[in-house]
Amino acid sequence: MSRGEGAALRLEGAGTDLEDIEIQLLLEGIRLCYGYDFREYALSPLRRGVAAAMAREGVQTVSAYQDRVLHDAACMQRFLGTVGVNVTSMFRDPDLLRCVLEDVVPLLRTYPSSRIWVAGCASGEEVYAFAVLLEEAGMLKRTSIYATDLNEDMLAIARLGSYPLEKLRRYEDAYVVSGGQTSLADHYSVAGRTARFNRDLQASITWARHSLVTDGSFNDFHLIVCANVLIYFRASLQERAHRLMYDSLVRGGFLALGKRESLLSCPDRDHYEQVRDGVNLFRKMRW
Ligand SMILES: C[S@@+](CC[C@H](N)C(=O)[O-])C[C@H]1O[C@@H](n2cnc3c(N)ncnc32)[C@H](O)[C@@H]1O
Repeated sequence: MSRGEGAALRLEGAGTDLEDIEIQLLLEGIRLCYGYDFREYALSPLRRGVAAAMAREGVQTVSAYQDRVLHDAACMQRFLGTVGVNVTSMFRDPDLLRCVLEDVVPLLRTYPSSRIWVAGCASGEEVYAFAVLLEEAGMLKRTSIYATDLNEDMLAIARLGSYPLEKLRRYEDAYVVSGGQTSLADHYSVAGRTARFNRDLQASITWARHSLVTDGSFNDFHLIVCANVLIYFRASLQERAHRLMYDSLVRGGFLALGKRESLLSCPDRDHYEQVRDGVNLFRKMRW
């Protein structure tokens, strides 16, 4: 084990008071230097992220890592990928997608056009899942999907809409359980080992950088999807993000969260009603 890996392992465990101070200084430095604000992210995933980043860079102390991050924008970009936790997939929560198809889409049909915001979209798979299902429901042409993330590198992958073919093939079962009507393969073209989603899906999606920590509302939406992002925030930050999403929803709009997330830290939780038991889809009923 290298010395950098040893230091990182120690940090991933309980850590020490000194390391906690170093982490605070690292986050403050990143905020001042680059404008990213991780100060209110949940401590354990943050520690794991810093530990992994230190091991990758081969440095032994958080202070040495801070020195590198502040002087090297590429290192900062790599840090974003690590602390942001970019793990994602298509059709991750089939029950939720089916509920959207059955309970939200019929309402969207009553509007001439509608807007959906997918916040924290990572490399875009989740967004293409929504686009595919909306297209099959005949709703894509009158829906605008806004997909945002903190990390420009992830958005660049998402914009391309190209993924390893093997990966997309593995989603076929979840696509059917989510309410898919034909085959996922009908929605992409294949070149070698790569699959690229069709142009009409891409045309309905606007990709943009947006931070749930530092940016404000930019439109009002009929559906907001924010899955597996709030779990990385402390309660105070979850509260901020919830307020932003509540303010960005139209009257009667819907909020979809990840399976491990809830409205617990939402200041307006009494204004929402859960659409279906066991599914994290909520409707803004009072305002
Ligand atoms: C675990 S992924 C979830 C991806 C997708 N929503 C899903 O459920 O599969 C978390 C994503 O949140 C993004 N993220 C982290 N902090 C954010 C913030 N403050 N504002 C917007 N996105 C953020 C990360 O860059 C990452 O792409």
